Amino acid sequence: MAAPVPSVETFLKQNQEADLLRFSTAGSVDDGKSTLIGRLLYEANSLYEDQLAALRKDSTKFMREELDLSLVMDGLKAEREQAITIDVAYRYFSTPKRHFIIADTPGHEQYTRNMATGASTADLAVVLIDASKGVLIQSKRHAFIASLLGIQHMVVAVNKMDLAGYSEEVFRKIQDDFGTFAEKLQITDLVYIPVSALNGDNVVRMSEKMPWYDGSPLLRHLENVHVMGSRNLIDLRFPVQYVNRPNMNFRGYAGRIASGTIGKGDEVLVLPSQRRTKVRSIVTFDGELAKAFAPQSVTVTLEDDVDVNRGDMLVHPHNIPHVYREIDAILIWMDPSPMQIGKVYLVKHTTQLLKGSVTGLNFKINPETLGREKAAELRLNEIGRVTVQLFKQIFCDEYSRNRETGSFIVIDPMTYATVAAGTIIERGRLSSAAKLAETGKAKNKIIHRQEGAVTPADRAKLLRQRPATLWFTGLSSSGKSSLAFELEKRLMAAGHLCFVLDGDNVRHGLNRDLSFSPPDRTENIRRVAEVARLFNEAGVIVLTAFISPYRADRGHAQEIIGAGQFIEIYTDSPVSVCERRDPKGLYEKAKAGLIPEFTGINAPYEVPQNPAIHLKTGEESLDVSAEKVYNYLRRNGFLTV
Ligand code: ADX
Repeated sequence: MAAPVPSVETFLKQNQEADLLRFSTAGSVDDGKSTLIGRLLYEANSLYEDQLAALRKDSTKFMREELDLSLVMDGLKAEREQAITIDVAYRYFSTPKRHFIIADTPGHEQYTRNMATGASTADLAVVLIDASKGVLIQSKRHAFIASLLGIQHMVVAVNKMDLAGYSEEVFRKIQDDFGTFAEKLQITDLVYIPVSALNGDNVVRMSEKMPWYDGSPLLRHLENVHVMGSRNLIDLRFPVQYVNRPNMNFRGYAGRIASGTIGKGDEVLVLPSQRRTKVRSIVTFDGELAKAFAPQSVTVTLEDDVDVNRGDMLVHPHNIPHVYREIDAILIWMDPSPMQIGKVYLVKHTTQLLKGSVTGLNFKINPETLGREKAAELRLNEIGRVTVQLFKQIFCDEYSRNRETGSFIVIDPMTYATVAAGTIIERGRLSSAAKLAETGKAKNKIIHRQEGAVTPADRAKLLRQRPATLWFTGLSSSGKSSLAFELEKRLMAAGHLCFVLDGDNVRHGLNRDLSFSPPDRTENIRRVAEVARLFNEAGVIVLTAFISPYRADRGHAQEIIGAGQFIEIYTDSPVSVCERRDPKGLYEKAKAGLIPEFTGINAPYEVPQNPAIHLKTGEESLDVSAEKVYNYLRRNGFLTV
């Protein structure tokens, strides 16, 4: 009796995930992909008896004389009839060294969707190129999509070498052609292998027909290639799928850990409420766990009776995701009807399904040249960079950091068809400020800078100081203004000319037309940076106290002011402490729903990644913090007295 074919789950359980390689394959129609995978499975002795039996029968039906290995791969009847693959088929096999899961994805021009689906969980991509045809657009498209999806390892299998007379020249030519293209992709490990899937050359066994090739056969390479694994085990992101409340005594939050690890006793922060509590227990079907890892599905119970709802996320308090209502993303459009700017779609991100619309298309990318092209819309299979405005905030990371929280799909609300897949990219390189600056530049081409005879050195000498902007950033009530004013006092006492630009003050005058919406905050910061720069040019040391919650905006401020003069100072105080201080009573109002988009409560704050000075203002005294900043200025030669 043949052994029954196990499900993927059983297979995984049996083999642990210890040494598992997931790879995707794609190629053009007829380049022999199915044959190649069939050969891999067959020769790796992993074909189950019953699959073989079915195969023999099918082969007879199709009146093929030889056992047709490509039929092994046909998950779908349609392919057998049309001879094209139209969906992703997952196959798995093992060798004594490793376990493998193959996502076999189609190469037919229309099926970008499946290619992306297959590649989205892979560690490595095998791109097939038909030696007799050379590098075709499909192979490039696959490589491009694989790299967009963060795959670092790629094997280019140059197939049908038998038809090319096993010629080294043909192989090298393809290697050169593809190499020129692949240089522009972010793939760290790219290997070329000449194979003949049909005859088994260099698939599992080394071929004698290509003595000029000194690499490994495909299977040996797949067995030995060192992959880091794409799973993020650092950043805890636990999106709550549902609240499990079987009786009054138990309230658990169930879901699949998207990334990171969670441990019993861990302090966690609930998003969006920002309530802190601890993990009381981690419950699974098989009992309680002390620790759980992505991608386990667990139910978490918490120490305190905090309000947690479906779609909320548990994270570690010192490692929080972005909380965005507007995201910048690379979008792969997969639907026959083109993307419509402004149309309301459904966006699925982790466990959340929310409404959103594409508000901007910056450019589309030509998969053949990888060049950027201007476009009014994205059509089937096209890839572009977009801005998506969501009706509600999401908790996300950049895709390059976290595949789970960095990706989303777009669904048509009428048909429920998945129309696009997106990967979130770092916000801001095209922030409103940058765009404004760009248009400003264009408009101001006829305006030239005027220069007088007095130099910055003259001013520095007169004032006995080097100008700088101390850019304090942090939550409201985290101590920015108090510190800035304290330092202003100390600097003046020591004979230094300085000036404080404070959020509340500037918003009464220069920026009184601005709200707290994200674009207005961006503009707030841009103007302040321009003012700071002017003060610096006048030789004055500037101290700015603005929440400046967006990293990109602070980056832009640094560009305006100049990296040598811009000193980012993070006043790091937990929301709970800021809330307790709250001299203006704003947190209380915000929590009562009276202030929309209040930073820390219902608007995001993006923690500085590498501030020049990091002050724990929640813990240390004003004096200590002020001393640290003062010393920094002295040590770095800003105060020349
Ligand atoms: S920023 O985000 O654009 O940098 P800014 O520092 O200028 O903000 O102003 C923050 C100050 O405005 C806070 O200290 C607080 O007093 C007040 N404020 C009023 N509404 C809000 C809000 N929605 N979010 C944050 N601060 C607010």
